[in-house]
Amino acid sequence: MWRGTESDRRTGKAGSPHAGASQFCTRYSLDQRDTIIPAHNEAVWNMVGGGCCRLRVERRLKIEEIVTEENQNSPEAVFQVRDVSKIYRMGDVEVHALRGVDLSLYAGELMVLLGASGSGKSTLLNILGGLDVPTSGEVHYADHALTSANEEELTQFRREHVGFVFQFYNLIPSLTALENVSLVTEIADDPMDPADALDLVGLGDRTNHFPAQLSGGEQQRVAIARAIAKKPDVLLCDEPTGALDYSTGKLVLDVLVRVNHELHTTIAVITHNAAIAGMADRVVRMSSGQVVEVAQNARKLSPGN
Ligand SMILES: Nc1ncnc2c1ncn2[C@@H]1O[C@H](COP(=O)(O)OP(=O)(O)O)[C@@H](O)[C@H]1O
Ligand SMILES: [Mg+2]
Repeated sequence: MWRGTESDRRTGKAGSPHAGASQFCTRYSLDQRDTIIPAHNEAVWNMVGGGCCRLRVERRLKIEEIVTEENQNSPEAVFQVRDVSKIYRMGDVEVHALRGVDLSLYAGELMVLLGASGSGKSTLLNILGGLDVPTSGEVHYADHALTSANEEELTQFRREHVGFVFQFYNLIPSLTALENVSLVTEIADDPMDPADALDLVGLGDRTNHFPAQLSGGEQQRVAIARAIAKKPDVLLCDEPTGALDYSTGKLVLDVLVRVNHELHTTIAVITHNAAIAGMADRVVRMSSGQVVEVAQNARKLSPGN
């Protein structure tokens, strides 16, 4: 069950993907070791395009449990990750994949996760999606504590709330695009029409094609249609463009942006494709298992801009 304060739950905790840099600063308290540098002091604050407010955050942010006038109107935090660490033990060797991560994912936002290989991006995404569990710390999905859920509860959580898209499309080769999507809609409670899901990803005219008859980008769009057809609250995408060239990858990212705009699905996506940065609400950078930067777009661009 939820263990935060009632005011946190009502206001969706501190921080907002739609807030400006100054608002952002008022919402975080820092412990003695932390430094937060507002956007206007940074020469590189424009990295994610035009009106982006960039914050460089050294060490980790601690979320202050206060209610300000601004965050009365904050969107709801779908996920709250608090001081999460993950240690993989391989024989005598310990791998610290995550080291005290604090992060929220807000309803309806599109968040991009960046970072070098091995920085912990997939580990974090897998923990959000209930595919893995942290060694310490807490993860909440709405008012559910994922960190105290058992395997059966995690399975139910994934089935009801989460859509996944991975680098490799994992389509069934002997089924058409429509049949691949229908596999999911047949077992979902209130799914989309599979043909509508394929329409949304721009494949309305490819419904009867088999995966081998589709390009890599088209197969990935079928995989996205499959993931969104059950109308998940959250879509978690781990390098969906990893096997695609830049412009094909951009088409796939445009589809994710469209899903975010039209279905209001909350999306977290790991990608190295810079095309999405200006279209995301926030760009989060990880390094050595920590969140080291949170850059926030004041103005979110639409696909094609
Ligand atoms: N299942 C696992 N067993 C052992 N080590 C793992 C496992 N998954 C990830 N790691 C290690 O954790 C670190 C973070 O990995 P990962 O989250 O996959 O990084 P990224 O997605 O940013 O490339 C890496 O050093 C990786 O080798
Ligand atoms: Mg990874």
